[in-house]
Amino acid sequence: MSNRIDQLLSALTLEEKVALLSGEDFWSVPAIERLGIGKLRVTDGPNGARGGGSLIGGVKSASFPVGIAIGATWNVELAEQIGAALADEVKSKNAHMLLAPTVNIHRSVTNGRNFECYSEDPILSAELAVGYINGLQGQGVGATIKHFVGNESEIERTTMSSEISERALREIYLVPFEWAVKKASTWGVMSSYNRLNGTYTSEHNWLLSTVLRQEWGYDGIVMSDWFGSHSTAPTVNAGLDLEMPGPTRDRGQKLVDAVRAGEVATDVLDKRVGAMLRLMGRVGSLDDHRPFQEHAENRPEHRALIRRAGAEGTVLLANNGVLPLSGAGKVAVIGPNAKMAQIMGGGSAQLNAHYRISPWEGLSAALGADRLSYVAGCTNHRFEPVLRGTFSVQYFDNHSLSGQPVHTGTMDDAQAFWIGAVAEGKVDPLHFSARISGTFTPEQSGEHRVGVYAAGFAKVFVDGRLVADAWTNWTKGRTFFEEGCDEVVGTVVLEAGRAHDIVIEFATKDFATLGLAAFAAGIGLPLGDEAIEAAVQAARDAETAIVFVGRNGEWDTEGSDLQGIVLPGRQNELVKAVAAANPRTVVVLQTGGPVEMPWVADVAAVLQAWYPGQEAGNAIADVLTGAADPGGRLPQTFPVRWADNPAHSQDREIYPGLEGKVRYEEGIFVGYRHYDRIGMTPLYPFGYGLSYTSFALSGLTVDDTRFEADGTVSVSFTVTNTGVRPGSTVVQLYVRDEKSTEPRPAKELKAFSKVALAPGQSNTVNLSLDARAFAWYREAAGHWLVEAGAFALLIGQSSLDLPLRADLTRSTTLMLPV
Ligand code: BGC
Repeated sequence: MSNRIDQLLSALTLEEKVALLSGEDFWSVPAIERLGIGKLRVTDGPNGARGGGSLIGGVKSASFPVGIAIGATWNVELAEQIGAALADEVKSKNAHMLLAPTVNIHRSVTNGRNFECYSEDPILSAELAVGYINGLQGQGVGATIKHFVGNESEIERTTMSSEISERALREIYLVPFEWAVKKASTWGVMSSYNRLNGTYTSEHNWLLSTVLRQEWGYDGIVMSDWFGSHSTAPTVNAGLDLEMPGPTRDRGQKLVDAVRAGEVATDVLDKRVGAMLRLMGRVGSLDDHRPFQEHAENRPEHRALIRRAGAEGTVLLANNGVLPLSGAGKVAVIGPNAKMAQIMGGGSAQLNAHYRISPWEGLSAALGADRLSYVAGCTNHRFEPVLRGTFSVQYFDNHSLSGQPVHTGTMDDAQAFWIGAVAEGKVDPLHFSARISGTFTPEQSGEHRVGVYAAGFAKVFVDGRLVADAWTNWTKGRTFFEEGCDEVVGTVVLEAGRAHDIVIEFATKDFATLGLAAFAAGIGLPLGDEAIEAAVQAARDAETAIVFVGRNGEWDTEGSDLQGIVLPGRQNELVKAVAAANPRTVVVLQTGGPVEMPWVADVAAVLQAWYPGQEAGNAIADVLTGAADPGGRLPQTFPVRWADNPAHSQDREIYPGLEGKVRYEEGIFVGYRHYDRIGMTPLYPFGYGLSYTSFALSGLTVDDTRFEADGTVSVSFTVTNTGVRPGSTVVQLYVRDEKSTEPRPAKELKAFSKVALAPGQSNTVNLSLDARAFAWYREAAGHWLVEAGAFALLIGQSSLDLPLRADLTRSTTLMLPV
């Protein structure tokens, strides 16, 4: 291959080389036909492969559990199987690279994108990323680990500077990327939107050249996040190979000129082009000349894997014995998420799933619908529910819907996210207007809420009357990646069974950063006290009540952070009322992170199911009925209150922005490291989760014969299933440095293993630690240090349940290079 790359490098003209360093369109890098170089295609990522086209609609894809749900499985082998299945999906979309995995750290409980990331812990994140990347790349599909680095919140993400000490970077935030390079040889890295200590990561020489390439030996490509590169020579010189998406903004002729002017040296340019060609060779796009064709592949083996993975990520937080469900009594299925399958988060990770199994459907299949009753009880949406149905669309090549339409088409529902050519290229995608017309037939009469928000201007008319106006009084909000306005809501009285006319008018607007055109319009009927009363009645009439509450992809989404972790709407009230009516109340939470649980002492069980993909309802039903053991353990500490989170003061201060900086003031004390430091007991600790069976740990033996010489240690111990059901646990090994010259966390996760055992069965677990597991990063000296003195190894089933302990000492200090 290196011969071929050299030959191509000498055959390519300057213009052709430059063409390979930026996208051609949203999802591809151009082919160079003259030299037989095929087109490289990429696709989002990470819980599926969405394919080309827009974020909404498009060809159907398999929807896998989101990042935090994979984080909760603590199962590296499963992450690898998911990676391998995703490779099939990427191929079905005719792409070569997946824009995944996302490994930013759960620093703050309010990050809108935590659902997409694995954990608050660097080692758990790193291990899972390695599994996932090995799975993908083992099938010839490139991974693009993202977002490098410091994208731990969404607020003003395209300008914000993450202010992070080098020690916190080395010990926490860089670790998953470092492992992806060193242990999985990832072929792609995506730079983040934000600045790091003042400099955009897409032009950060220390990050992209010194750390990534020189220290870690990386030989893949670095691509920008979408519209996240802001300069010509500085990005190329710092180490950014590919500007995405296309058409180019800062490369093309500008880069040709910069090379000619000597601002970018020819050998630097050749390094970037060489990296692109190497990648193209690895993923096979160099010789891929097939015409673009993507298709949906709804495979039974993917469905089975998704269902199993969903149950493996489900965390049983509390259980007084009500679960697994037994007997034949009536079950009241309650809550806004009961019939609404919450399968994924929002933003670029969303895709058009093959199907979505709701909890209601899953339970009906498992228990029989005649045992079940249903009441929604309340709503939990952030925006009014999108209007469904077929809409006709007229496009105008001006901003004011004037003259004759230049194109007509249809839409499947009242939302659009236009990417690339609009109206088959008959309008300028950044300068057009559209009239979208259809009808809405309500199920119930009454005053409905009509909402609209847009990256652009939009108005909604019902039966000819203007009801919601996000045009005249447009104010910038937190929708569509911060390019849109907040939702504007109006009310209108509608009649059950009557088809009311709906007309939406839309026009583009000139925006500073992403230049998006998008809108969503919805109609909802507010639920009042009577809905909660109906839920209470249903709970009284049933043996068991299961309340499905949480958030959805409107809340847990790229592009906006949460404003707190209280369950939205009247959900807390609903849970309390149901629990008061039925002592056998089970709460099933679906969120992308922790929520405050003021009712936790009043309910019989709590299950956290995250967003587990298209099989959501089946996976949840498997756990509720005991067909599967709840295999998940928390990848993030669940605090009692938002205020307990280490980033809380920052969260509050940065709204609406603190001089453009997110200061990582807690340093290395992220997640459980913080709670340990201040001695606060969280609601549920990191690593915690119940099984339907029980486990005992015993017989710890430690081999520390090499500890003094090279800092390595291995341990082994026995895990026994002491209960009567099959099940799994996650054994976790934490290291404590008893005394260090700089403050260190009370303990840090360094190794873990997931163990599945039959009743009565025992297994030996072997775990090994290298010197880095004992080291901290001495910033002033620029190296890792294992200090002389005492260390403890703490082993157990959560960060607060560590019954096995071994003590080690070393008499010398060991220095490790970066
Ligand atoms: C996201 C990336 C994503 C890209 C392409 C960006 O907004 O931050 O994670 O891969 O869009 O959709």
